[in-house]
Amino acid sequence: MVGAMSALAILGGEPVRCRPFTLWPQFTESDARRLQSVLESRNWGGYPFPNTLADEFARKFASRHGAKYGCCVANGTIALVAALQASGVGFGDEVIVPAYTWEGTAAAVLFAGAVPVFADIDPDTYCLDVNAVREAITPRTKAVIAVHLAMRFTEMDPLIDLAAERDLIVIEDCAHAHGGEYKGRGAGSMGDLGCFSFQSSKLMTSGEGGIVTTSRLDYFELLQSLTNCGRASATDQFRRRIVGCNYRITEFQAALLLGQLEQLDYWAERRSRNAALLTQALCGIEGVRPLPPQPSLTRDTIYNYVFQYRPPDDRVHRDVFVAALEAEGIPCDGRFYEAVYRSDLFPAQPDFPQLRIGRDEPVDYSRCYCPVAERAAYHESVWLPQFLLLGDEQDVEDIARAVAKVVAGRDELAAAGSGLAELKSMSRAERPKFEKHKNY
Ligand SMILES: Cc1ncc(COP(=O)(O)O)c(C=O)c1O
Repeated sequence: MVGAMSALAILGGEPVRCRPFTLWPQFTESDARRLQSVLESRNWGGYPFPNTLADEFARKFASRHGAKYGCCVANGTIALVAALQASGVGFGDEVIVPAYTWEGTAAAVLFAGAVPVFADIDPDTYCLDVNAVREAITPRTKAVIAVHLAMRFTEMDPLIDLAAERDLIVIEDCAHAHGGEYKGRGAGSMGDLGCFSFQSSKLMTSGEGGIVTTSRLDYFELLQSLTNCGRASATDQFRRRIVGCNYRITEFQAALLLGQLEQLDYWAERRSRNAALLTQALCGIEGVRPLPPQPSLTRDTIYNYVFQYRPPDDRVHRDVFVAALEAEGIPCDGRFYEAVYRSDLFPAQPDFPQLRIGRDEPVDYSRCYCPVAERAAYHESVWLPQFLLLGDEQDVEDIARAVAKVVAGRDELAAAGSGLAELKSMSRAERPKFEKHKNY
């Protein structure tokens, strides 16, 4: 254990950790072979649709998650747009989304012509609070998007019951939940549709990419038409003709994803084991709190390891704590997400006519207030990217030692002042200018 006297790295001391953590993404020789064989085949694109490897991957991925069908798409945001469109969400419909998520969850609702309505989250899982969803329902509500966030699942059983009672479509945003299970059911198989992202930081990645899962053939046929410029799907049992777009993925992406699926369980087990060790270690450190266990989670999925900063007083802000932890050599983030309605990545007015047409008053997101989401976003949550948990016990010990060291250095941090938090508290739209190296 590091003594309270050792100087914090952010104040000029030696960092706890000078070595990098395990690199992400990971690949094997068979990935290289698959890519080479796509190259030589000269069959690179997504057309004819679904192309060979994309089709093979979609079937395997859907079946691994307990859904009947999978439709590969260009990315996770488009997966959400396509899922909304396929399930009939249209202009002016309201879609309930958690206030604490990636801005893309809500942006997808806008791009589908609908109106995002923010509901607060549960303080122990940081996922949608089903009671808040109930309160947010209006006669215009058509759907709800449940985001399985970071390392927890939305409590799906009460949500699905509520949706059935109020005739709502349920879409799962599983961008963080590849391979995870809730009460033995796979992510993306419980709602009407599930949406996954394969962007670089995700638990399976092809650089960019996404997939929509569903067990309804009518939705699956529409998804294929939407993805493939309106062309009919092979089954075309429902014969719906629509205007579609090109949301296809390439065979190179599909080749990588087949390998990623093969490796999913191996890396998930390592994360799970190390996460359990980290939780144990953090339990012994005053002022931080691991998320409580979620008994309904039957298979871990850890996109980020999230814990809560709960100091005995407010002398050292969470953003200062995070900046100090990062200086100790532990990649981490406090403002990983904002309360979306407050984020400068979500300036929804005045570009989206559905926020005013057909309404007595335009939707005004400045009136939103979701206290649990705001506490998580601006005061409490600390996010550690998943690749920190891919190595050995020494990595976990380093993380825990760094947390303990920063906690023990609170007096010095308080004395140094809040200027330390400059980078961490800066606008999310501006941050990439300073963080070009980050893919998480
Ligand atoms: C919760 C959530 N939803 C949706 C997305 C969108 O995925 P993509 O970046 O592939 O468009 C992401 C990706 O960051 C996400 O984290």
